[in-house]
Order: sequence, then C-alpha cells, then structure tokens
Amino acid sequence: MSERQRVCAIEDVPPGKAGEFVVDDRIVAIYNVDGKFFALDGVCPHAGGPLGKGHLMGTRITCPWHGWQFDVTTGRHCLTPNIEQQRFEVTVEGDDVFVELS
Ligand code: FES
Repeated sequence: MSERQRVCAIEDVPPGKAGEFVVDDRIVAIYNVDGKFFALDGVCPHAGGPLGKGHLMGTRITCPWHGWQFDVTTGRHCLTPNIEQQRFEVTVEGDDVFVELS
C-alpha cells in the first residue's frame, strides 16, 4: 500500500537541481527538471551512494560516488536499462512536494 508523504517545499529544489530528503526512514531523491518534479529512491543500487546529491543534467542524474547514471523520469540506468531504480509518483500541492511511498 502506498502512502502520500510531504517531502519538501518547492523552493528547496530549484530547477536543474537535485535534493536528498529523509521521509519515513527512507532516503528520497527529488529532482526538478525545468519545474517538473521527479523522485527516486535516494540510495544508489551500485554501492549505496546518494542519488539526491548527484549532478542533474537534463533528466539524467549522475551518482557522485562512481558515476552511474539514471534517467530520473523512468528510474532506468542509462547504459543498462534492466537496472531500474525505484521511482515514486510526485505531486505538487501549493508550495509543497509530495511522494507516494510504496
Ligand atoms: S554508489 Fe552510485 S555509482 Fe557507485
């Protein structure tokens, strides 16, 4: 069952940026792609790096530890599409960003 949780304020993650947040004991990475928000599980599946602290270029996030790259709109690894990071549905209400944690 999924649960909708507030993650942050819109202004916490400006366009073109990523942010890392703890929600319900989970690390959630939030991305702002030209004003549209996306969310992934913030723990890199390679070795646990912080996907919310990587460099966002377009829709591509680069893990700061060893450079794995993911498309934040799908969660798919950019070179190995069968590696798929968990994605969360995002909604914006007023000034706040919410995710559906599952
Ligand atoms: S921990 Fe993310 S690329 Fe290694």
